[in-house]
Amino acid sequence: MSANERTLHSVKLPEDWSPGSWRGRTALQMPAYPDAGELARVQEELRALPPLVTSWEIHSLRQQLAEAQEGRRFLLQGGDCAENFSDCSSAVISNRLKVLLQMSLVLVHGLRLPVVRVGRFAGQYAKPRSAEVETRDGVSLPSYRGDMVNAPEFDAAARRPDPRRMVKAHARSAMTMNFVRSLIDGGFADLHHPEYWDLGWVTHSPLAEDYQRMVANIGEAVRFMETLSGNQVHNLNRVDFFTSHEALLLPYEEAFTRQVPRQWGWFNLSTHFPWIGMRTASRDGAHAEYFRGIRNPVAVKIGPGVEPDELLRLVDLLNPDDEPGRLGLICRMGAAAVADRLPRLLEAVRREGRRVLWICDPMHGNTEATSNGYKTRRFDNIRSEIEQSFDLHAAAGTRLGGVHLELTGEDVTECTGGARDLCEVDLERAYRSTVDPRLNYEQSLEIAMLIVRKHAQLGLALPGAR
Ligand code: PEP
Ligand code: CO
Repeated sequence: MSANERTLHSVKLPEDWSPGSWRGRTALQMPAYPDAGELARVQEELRALPPLVTSWEIHSLRQQLAEAQEGRRFLLQGGDCAENFSDCSSAVISNRLKVLLQMSLVLVHGLRLPVVRVGRFAGQYAKPRSAEVETRDGVSLPSYRGDMVNAPEFDAAARRPDPRRMVKAHARSAMTMNFVRSLIDGGFADLHHPEYWDLGWVTHSPLAEDYQRMVANIGEAVRFMETLSGNQVHNLNRVDFFTSHEALLLPYEEAFTRQVPRQWGWFNLSTHFPWIGMRTASRDGAHAEYFRGIRNPVAVKIGPGVEPDELLRLVDLLNPDDEPGRLGLICRMGAAAVADRLPRLLEAVRREGRRVLWICDPMHGNTEATSNGYKTRRFDNIRSEIEQSFDLHAAAGTRLGGVHLELTGEDVTECTGGARDLCEVDLERAYRSTVDPRLNYEQSLEIAMLIVRKHAQLGLALPGAR
């Protein structure tokens, strides 16, 4: 690129960065692959495979996230904690899409704002773990790190990190993307037909009445507009759906980091909106090094241990030019810590006038173990962290621009509480997650409804619209 072209962009390419420059830093949470030669061969194979997303879509998402930063949109980011290869099925994918579409309908209707829809799917196959090894009955094996790395069964062959799983992860991601794109292009998301998104068991839900009333209102509004204009309201079948995953496994991410014709810079073309997990978010680490050079919008998980100075330095590293829509901060403090830990971060970022998109992840700070050994989350804590976050932003003069949730369209019982008031013994009935507990359909819809209530209670609206 000529010097002239470069000055057309207010954003500079980092001079000392390359898709592989992360290799000079400490890379936490990487599997110990026993065969370096095979890893290199797999990376070569991945480099030749087609990407999953395009740079145009990435630019369009960045624009939408910039609008969310200004309060002109709201971000809904959600999906499984970890996708499994075996869950790459028609029912699991379409049910998850249905929940996200229904939630976004509740949000659009209640917030009177367009929603940016981002799935945690088509690549959410690698997981950070708190321990390198797992020990059972005196036997220690490498921890399960997601289907992209190894298998969950507790035997030596299953737990051996296998680079070929990255090729399979790419294929599964491509199948997922392909199905999601076909559903949406084929009219699945058409607002004239919200009944397409109904999930069988929903009719028994205590929330069904509220939801159906809202759908009827929307249907009437659409018909009213169509009568008034004498035309079909177009574009109601056109919703954008973007993907995201934790870009944890850097050899995989590096292989999909590409340049494209007539665009400057490098793009991670395995997903639209990658994020850095809490355990790998150090400014000096390999993940931050990798992320600073890609042109995608990126996000980073912020836990309760992060101090304001540290956060500002991370913001500087990841968004040195203060580019709109570039950086999301996904805060996951826990309901008990958020009031203590969040305000000073909000204040520091506001004081420095930095542009970020504040996102609340009310899941990961609220994980606990039950007496019968299940990993769970209480709905009341999830609700409380969201509500407190809205209040804390209102008090700080900042804006909560979105939520990040772990959910599924399956009828699971993994989080306690909610409209059906699930309790610890219910967890045994349908606990399917191999990692973190997810909100089921009903609990997810309830979260969307409570966001709407909270928004209304605080009188939040478009800037200038009050
Ligand atoms: C996750 O999002 O599944 C996760 C592991 O989150 P965190 O990095 O916030 O712990
Ligand atoms: Co999780």
